[in-house]
Amino acid sequence: MGVSLQQFLLATCTHAAFTLAAQPQILADTNRDGVINDLDINNKQAWTDQRGAIFIPNIGDIHQRCSAIDANGQPLGNRELSMCNDASGDTLLVPEYAAPVRTSPLSNLSADAMGRIYTRPESALDRVRIFWNQYGYENAYNSSWRLTDPQFLFNATSIGQGLELAVDATELVTGSTSWDGRVSIVYEITDANVTRSDSVALQQAPVLFHHHLQGVETVLTMDSDDTTSSQARFVQSMQNTLERIPGGLPLRKLEAVGEPWAQDFMEPGYVSMPGPDRPISIRVLVRSAQSTRVAGRKVFEELRGPGVGGHQLGPGSGFGHEEINSGGNIETIPPYTSRSGKHWAQGRIITAKHFGKYPAQSMIDFMVAQEAQSPLILEAGWLAVGHVDEFVQFLPSDNHLGFTIAVGDAMLGLEVLQRAQYDGHGSTIVNSFDGDMTPYPNAIFLDPETRNTTIDNLLSDDDFIQTNKYGQRYVQQNLDLLLQEIPLDEAEVLRVPALWRDVTYPWPLTLDGLPPRLHRTIPGERQLAAYMPAAVNGLVLGSDYISAKPWGPLINGQDPFEKAIRDVYGRVNMTVHFVDDYMSHHVQGGEVHCGTNSLRDTSVPWWNT
Ligand SMILES: *[C@@H]1O[C@H](CO)[C@@H](O)[C@H](O)[C@H]1NC(C)=O
Ligand SMILES: *[C@@H]1O[C@H](CO)[C@@H](O)[C@H](O)[C@H]1NC(C)=O
Ligand SMILES: *[C@@H]1O[C@H](CO)[C@@H](O)[C@H](O)[C@H]1NC(C)=O
Ligand SMILES: *[C@@H]1O[C@H](CO)[C@@H](O)[C@H](O)[C@H]1NC(C)=O
Ligand SMILES: *[C@@H]1O[C@H](CO)[C@@H](O)[C@H](O)[C@H]1NC(C)=O
Ligand SMILES: *[C@@H]1O[C@H](CO)[C@@H](O)[C@H](O)[C@H]1NC(C)=O
Repeated sequence: MGVSLQQFLLATCTHAAFTLAAQPQILADTNRDGVINDLDINNKQAWTDQRGAIFIPNIGDIHQRCSAIDANGQPLGNRELSMCNDASGDTLLVPEYAAPVRTSPLSNLSADAMGRIYTRPESALDRVRIFWNQYGYENAYNSSWRLTDPQFLFNATSIGQGLELAVDATELVTGSTSWDGRVSIVYEITDANVTRSDSVALQQAPVLFHHHLQGVETVLTMDSDDTTSSQARFVQSMQNTLERIPGGLPLRKLEAVGEPWAQDFMEPGYVSMPGPDRPISIRVLVRSAQSTRVAGRKVFEELRGPGVGGHQLGPGSGFGHEEINSGGNIETIPPYTSRSGKHWAQGRIITAKHFGKYPAQSMIDFMVAQEAQSPLILEAGWLAVGHVDEFVQFLPSDNHLGFTIAVGDAMLGLEVLQRAQYDGHGSTIVNSFDGDMTPYPNAIFLDPETRNTTIDNLLSDDDFIQTNKYGQRYVQQNLDLLLQEIPLDEAEVLRVPALWRDVTYPWPLTLDGLPPRLHRTIPGERQLAAYMPAAVNGLVLGSDYISAKPWGPLINGQDPFEKAIRDVYGRVNMTVHFVDDYMSHHVQGGEVHCGTNSLRDTSVPWWNT
């Protein structure tokens, strides 16, 4: 009872102050200016939206060392294929992608002083790598970066000089594990039986999906292994169009794999953190939750590389190749503040359910876990394929939001026909496609009869009119949901002429135990597909727009649909380029957007907004 608490504290502190002159200090880029200095000292232990250091998962493949085959030359399974990247192992292969962390030099340590560096919480242990740039050390890659461990002890010389550290993550935050990306790095020094510590908070960057206001770097499409095919012609036509766009844009042709849907097997995103000159970023391609879709393997086999990583969602959902889980059913609203006042600084994902059926839980969990773009769920069960890109898109505009919404509008599509009929062209054939219509196995929506259907035929077909009214109701219902969220005047919405046809089918076929790719709809509902190649389902490239050529009726040599489409995109100053996708995509249920993908700018300082 001899010593009061106050005396005890005083004694301890005096002792410590005497033997351990300086408090250990660990610093990261807390103020996010890309360098570590005195401005990072304050408020570094609590991470907030405004302040706190950021690190990224180092999941590219800088030396392209990741294989797609095993030792016997057999293809790796999906999971094994996805496991390899620059952070799988104990070596820091790409120091540029690791966040800098530093401890301050300390003087007046005794010779047997020791230091440790470790992470909290426990779940960070295998997910966050901390490397020490050890003078004189050299690993097999001629690098002086050495992996540390909580048991690793730094001696007095090293801690006296100050430690130069680098931090990266080995995996993404997915929502399916306890790892939420938040970590505290603790620096602990023991000298003369006194232990003191300091810590700094870091958070792993979220994976953000791109929106249409971001600049395009590369357009992707699927190559064709048959130079005479409609896909080969589509690719050539895309190439020609991209060359004509001011400045030009590169087209990357992915190796043919038996399907033309470059949009659907993945969703491109990115992670980024502050760098000294500009954001440091890694592209993250999230494979769609369709484990049997072979094209999805391209994420790892063909696209993973320097600065580009892939992600395979966890097991338990996304089995098979269900259309609801395609990338075309994932789009992103550009940044906005909602009517209820929530600021979506990185925009917000939209995806669609099919009445009672939802996209794979693993993908929804992944999106929600990033905490930045939680999905808004629309309804696409009224469509045969059922992707959001079939009826809605976001376009740059100079309004207060910086963007507007475009939707496919069947009433406008009918109006174009009615106007032509009124002008005396009722006997004109609606479909002017003049190419070869020889059926092929996947051309499930090919309908050669349209070659004989006139404007009068269509406008007097009550079922066709009812189908279009039905489609319009669902488009409007989805638009209403978007407009309840996004503070945009309905008058500013761009309505792109569209026409639907009813392809309600008796599927599913049962195939080898796999869930069917397309679903039977619920009683009382229809399933629609685009009657003519759909303009709204196109590719936004800044102020250029690549649309499917509609192949509408030719009136005095002109297609009034082409004119209407140019006019509506012209309202936001976009230049429309038409590409023929009739036999390559349209008759298989998709259009230009579905047949392409875009790799956009990843150097986004998301932490500033
Ligand atoms: C370290 O110790 C020396 C000699 O004991 C003393 O002169 C110096 O001021 C001390 N430095 C610090 C930073 O405490
Ligand atoms: C490491 O350096 C040595 C000597 O300069 C060189 O021969 C070797 O190829 C280097 N190894 C790697 C992995 O770069
Ligand atoms: C302290 O550690 C460094 C780096 O491992 C080593 O070079 C140095 O010899 C060590 N010093 C002592 C006194 O053990
Ligand atoms: C540290 O504690 C041990 C055990 O209590 C003691 O033997 C040793 O002398 C102490 N060392 C110092 C530097 O105080
Ligand atoms: C279109 O009509 C012509 C003549 O009426 C007929 O010969 C042809 O088979 C029809 N084509 C289709 C695809 O129905
Ligand atoms: C289109 O461009 C014109 C002329 O540059 C400009 O005044 C107008 O605001 C633009 N409109 C939109 C919607 O971007």
